[in-house]
Amino acid sequence: MRMTEDGRLAVSYNGTPAYDIIWEQNFEGIAAEIERIGLAGRRFCIVTDSNVAPFHLDALKKAIAPAALKVTEYVFPAGEASKNLDTVKGVYTHLIEEAYERKDCLIALGGGVVGDLTGYTAATYLRGIRFIQVPTTLLSMVDSSIGGKTGVDFDRYKNMVGAFHQPSLVYMNLNTLLTLSAREYLSGMGEIIKHGLIKDKDYYEWLSANREGILAREYRTLLTMIRESCDIKRGVVERDPKEAGERALLNFGHTLGHAVEKLKDLKLLHGECVAIGMAAASEISWRKGFLSKEEYEGIVRVIESFSLPVTVSGIDAQDVVETAGHDKKMEGGKWKFILLERIGNAIIDRTVTREDAKAAAMNVIR
Ligand code: GLY
Repeated sequence: MRMTEDGRLAVSYNGTPAYDIIWEQNFEGIAAEIERIGLAGRRFCIVTDSNVAPFHLDALKKAIAPAALKVTEYVFPAGEASKNLDTVKGVYTHLIEEAYERKDCLIALGGGVVGDLTGYTAATYLRGIRFIQVPTTLLSMVDSSIGGKTGVDFDRYKNMVGAFHQPSLVYMNLNTLLTLSAREYLSGMGEIIKHGLIKDKDYYEWLSANREGILAREYRTLLTMIRESCDIKRGVVERDPKEAGERALLNFGHTLGHAVEKLKDLKLLHGECVAIGMAAASEISWRKGFLSKEEYEGIVRVIESFSLPVTVSGIDAQDVVETAGHDKKMEGGKWKFILLERIGNAIIDRTVTREDAKAAAMNVIR
């Protein structure tokens, strides 16, 4: 664990400095950041959803105005059901009607759906314009706003259409976390626990030691935690921007987790499904002799201590395996399964069989 004290982290892309991640307690510093990255005097379209807009849209608009030629907004109905090409088309139409040009900029204000969809629109409008991530959920702060994965769902396939397109800035106002429901907030802990498990045992232990401050959303604790998780994600995406290898480790808990998410028809939040998937993948890691039983049981306890689920009901183990089998994370018909070789070190494993996965799925189904 590095425990940086800075309010800024520089992220490189292909070895060249690409964008900064900024941590603040309001939106007020964003105009100065826009000037710093050479975007002052441009048009800015804030793309957000119907949940986030009432809380944060006006404050962000006001903060951007001094650095902008014009600020407009596009608000779409909140939820995964909006993450599709129809919504992208709505944004394109708005941009064309408002005469947005290639030098202008989009701003994604919201969680993962808003960030992924806005990034994809930015990647494709006029063959690519710049965009800024302003994540407002814990999950989007530590995961989806960093690393340039953008995209939308297509029919029933999650993130099936997309592009790699790096943001020009990631600006986090940590106070936005205070408006999240407990469930939405804790869902982000799924990805954060994952960061410790796959990359940093000290950080994993720090999370348990600081559980009370995390649950209370105490500012200094949040800042340390978010910085640490962002730094872990930064390291991974810098070393492997297009998921040729190491970036796949971020999919720990996602192979079975995505299947659960799909089978539960999005009734569970993403981080909750990742938590269930991590419990299953940790069990496989124990059965394959990587983790001790105590370590596996300890992981389950840590996940539960943040009020995240480790079991699910109303679905069938065989369906989980079939659904996961259609997932992008298979390569050449083989599972590309992420396991823990030890706590703090994940590996890509190609030996997990359907039977292994089914047994693990059965273990998390009640
Ligand atoms: N959310 C996983 C990744 O960015 O690769």
